[in-house]
Amino acid sequence: VDITVAAVTDSSGSFSLLPAELEAPRADEVLVRLVSVGICATDLHFATFLPTNAVLGHEGAGVVEAVGAGVTGVRTGDRVALAFTSCGSCKQCRSAAPSYCAQFDALNFAGSRPDGTSALRIGGEPVYGHFLGQSTFATHAVANVRSVVKLADTVDLRSAGPFGCGFLTGAGTVFNVLKPGPASAVAVFGAGAVGLAAVMAAAASGAETIVAVDVSQSRLKAAEGVGATHVLDSRHGDLVERLREVVPGGLDGSIDTTGRAEVVSAAVTALHTRGICAVVGVGPSDAVSIDWRTLLNGRTVTGIISGSAVPQVLVPQLLELQAAGRFPVEKLMTRYAFEDINEAAAATRRGDVIKAVLTF
Ligand SMILES: NC(=O)c1ccc[n+]([C@@H]2O[C@H](COP(=O)([O-])OP(=O)(O)OC[C@H]3O[C@@H](n4cnc5c(N)ncnc54)[C@H](O)[C@@H]3O)[C@@H](O)[C@H]2O)c1
Ligand SMILES: [Zn+2]
Ligand SMILES: [Zn+2]
Repeated sequence: VDITVAAVTDSSGSFSLLPAELEAPRADEVLVRLVSVGICATDLHFATFLPTNAVLGHEGAGVVEAVGAGVTGVRTGDRVALAFTSCGSCKQCRSAAPSYCAQFDALNFAGSRPDGTSALRIGGEPVYGHFLGQSTFATHAVANVRSVVKLADTVDLRSAGPFGCGFLTGAGTVFNVLKPGPASAVAVFGAGAVGLAAVMAAAASGAETIVAVDVSQSRLKAAEGVGATHVLDSRHGDLVERLREVVPGGLDGSIDTTGRAEVVSAAVTALHTRGICAVVGVGPSDAVSIDWRTLLNGRTVTGIISGSAVPQVLVPQLLELQAAGRFPVEKLMTRYAFEDINEAAAATRRGDVIKAVLTF
């Protein structure tokens, strides 16, 4: 199939629209025509070091145009969202934990199928594709059926893209890991797309206290609009002390989406003795220092990939929650035409938009 992709140009992280060829789907693959694709911080990070002509994009949603001979459960014409892929046969996959698949990095970041081939060619040459199971900064994508999530016919595909990563990550971390109850207190550090999805999920769970922490007043305002009961600007004062003022007994759960050591450290220290801190962000810090006794006294620090979710289970649930008005992620989205990907990426980098969504 002849398609158009937004390919990585150079280490500046910009994209150029190019004609490309996409192979027909293999036995276990599906061809999808994209309707929307969100831009995630992870795309912009990878864009700075992948080779020229690599194709990123991992929050795609669209319509199935063809299925491979061995595919069951998905048909031509189905509406789908795409998420990361996994092997399906390792211990983690068999334990319903596909985001911890033993082959996760090889399948999602190598730029190819497991056999080393890429479905994507530019100017006749194979290029880096299959990013997080999809490479959907493109009019069409070939994805392994394990990353395909079938959606209801009523779903608006123009909004469904980001459910495959950012929204899944934030909400899944709350529903699958922190599991706040009605009297719980949670704090979300970093109020971007991931953090705000977490705030919404905490509100939907009935958590009593939901603190959002950021360095941007507009992000804190957005957090108040989606369920945060308290907001803190982490630039002012001692963060742990100020969290203690809001929640004297300590937090039941915290989520870091900043990837900054000093923030992670505060997110752990502000827990009560049996609280859980979920580390989700990928940021500038390599290592975190946490006081020995803080951990010894029963606290848990855990890293979380894709909200520890099975996308085929949680994505439809989140879309239903959205339809019921309890997961109002449309407030976070700004739409751009696919052609305007560089403008959308620049606005995302500046923090001017929370979730840029490209439409085709
Ligand atoms: N673990 C996963 O599976 C997974 C999945 C998706 C995204 N991510 C990562 O999650 C992170 C968040 O993604 P996003 O799309 O929400 O990004 P984002 O950039 O929109 O959000 C990060 C927020 O952190 C805030 N921030 C920066 N420094 C801060 C500080 N010192 N204190 C408090 N807040 C601060 C920023 O102002 C911003 O609002 C990224 O690092 C992304 O790569 C991880
Ligand atoms: Zn992502
Ligand atoms: Zn696996």
